[in-house]
Amino acid sequence: MKVLGIMGSPRVRGNSDILLSQALAGAKEAGATVEKIILDRKQISGCKDCKKCNKTGICVITDDMGEIKEKILEAYAIIHSVPVYFWSMTAQMKAYLDRWCVFFDADWNWQKIYYPKMFRKRIGLITVCGDPNVHTADPIVHSFKSTAEMTRMHWLGAVMASAAEKGEIANNEVALREALELGRRAATP
Ligand SMILES: Cc1cc2nc3c(=O)[nH]c(=O)nc-3n(C[C@H](O)[C@H](O)[C@H](O)COP(=O)(O)O)c2cc1C
Repeated sequence: MKVLGIMGSPRVRGNSDILLSQALAGAKEAGATVEKIILDRKQISGCKDCKKCNKTGICVITDDMGEIKEKILEAYAIIHSVPVYFWSMTAQMKAYLDRWCVFFDADWNWQKIYYPKMFRKRIGLITVCGDPNVHTADPIVHSFKSTAEMTRMHWLGAVMASAAEKGEIANNEVALREALELGRRAATP
C-alpha cells in the first residue's frame, strides 16, 4: 500500500513540507510505503479546457502530470499539503488540481478506465496560513472536500495550521500530532 504526498509549496522544508513529512511518517508507521512529490520541481501547465480528455481519458498536454497521474492511480491514499496564498491555494497546487479533469467524462463522472482505481480513493489535506486564524484556509478545504464529495472519494479530513516563517510549524506540537494522525488514518483500512 502506497501513500502519496503532494507538496504544493515552493518552499521546500517549509511549513507545508514539514507537516506533509509528518503525515507520511504516520503512514509509514501504519505500514504504508510513501512517496512525496514536490510540485514546484515539476512542469505542470494549466488545464486548457479543450475537452479532449472527456472522450479519451488522455490529456493533450505532455508534461509531468502524465507521470503524476499514474502515481495517483496506483496510490492507496493521497495527502495534499499547501499554504494559503492570497486566500487561496498556490499556483502550483491549482495547476495540478485542474489537471484532474483527465479523470472525468463530460458529466464529471470518473472515466470508466479510471473508475476502479479512483472510486473511494482516500484523499486528505493539510493547509498552512500565516494568519493566526486557520480558517483563512477554508476556501482550500472547500475546494478539495467538494471534489472528494462530488466524486465519492474517501475524504480523510483536513489538518489546518497557522505559521508564517519558514519551518516555524516545527514548534506546533498540535499540528505535528494532527498531521501524524492524518497519515496513520490514510494508511489504515
Ligand atoms: C504570495 C504569498 C501570499 C500569501 N498570502 C497569504 C494569505 O492570503 N493569507 C495568509 O494567512 N497567509 C498568506 N501567506 C503566508 C503563507 O501562507 C505562510 O507564510 C505559510 O507559512 C507558508 O507556508 P510554507 O512554509 O509551506 O510555504 C502568503 C505568502 C505568500 C508568499
